[in-house]
Amino acid sequence: MIPLTIALLLAVVTRASAVNLPEYIHVCKRRDPNVENCISQSVEYLRPYLVKGVPERNIPSLEPLLLKELVAAEGTGIRISARNVHAYGASDFTVKRLKIDLDKLRFEVDINLPHLYIDGMYEIAGRVLLLPISGTGPMQGNFTQCTGAVRMQGALRKDKAGEDHLYYSDFRMKISIGKGNLRLENLFGGERTLGDVVNAAINNNFDAFIRELKPLIEKALSESFLEISNRIVEPFTYKQLFPDN
Ligand SMILES: *[C@@H]1O[C@H](CO)[C@@H](O)[C@H](O)[C@H]1NC(C)=O
Repeated sequence: MIPLTIALLLAVVTRASAVNLPEYIHVCKRRDPNVENCISQSVEYLRPYLVKGVPERNIPSLEPLLLKELVAAEGTGIRISARNVHAYGASDFTVKRLKIDLDKLRFEVDINLPHLYIDGMYEIAGRVLLLPISGTGPMQGNFTQCTGAVRMQGALRKDKAGEDHLYYSDFRMKISIGKGNLRLENLFGGERTLGDVVNAAINNNFDAFIRELKPLIEKALSESFLEISNRIVEPFTYKQLFPDN
């Protein structure tokens, strides 16, 4: 009994003092001529963990992805905000193109997102597509055939032991939405007919409508993914993630 307890204790102590690579990290050699293929595979290793989240590493679940607040800048004649937006389907992405320059720590990823469903609370006041609109309430939407272009800049930071750690200093995501459909409930304080007319107008002119919101969505997604990416890579040394040989 006692030797077993000691062995268990030792195992716990060793694990706590060195940050071992968890199973969701698939290592790629720095000089691998096919490092892009290797990293594509790493993304596949990671996907099921992204779906569930890794609570002990503070990595949130992507299903759903929570965007706390989107606020459109005033000045365009319209004020739009959305709170508690949950997006479902973000983990269903496929990697279309991957370009990596490990010397410059630049990562470029293009993805396809076949289907996103969102719900949340909105508030809107001002003119959209020349229509005066106001209201607040729940909203839902479907977006299909979306694509995302991600540009990440990495950098190295030394820990107390002098070991380099990779972190991302910049994360930019541009999205394009193939087809979209939104439903804003309770427009004009619940005036049904007017609400239906405006929802129809929004959906008939979805591209124009979403153009005003897109920069917000891109900023919120970029901030979320910057944080998630850093939580994934920061505990480990650069050497652990991308060994020399
Ligand atoms: C989104 O798609 C689902 C499933 O196809 C459908 O039930 C729902 O009504 C759609 N919602 C909107 C706002 O288009």
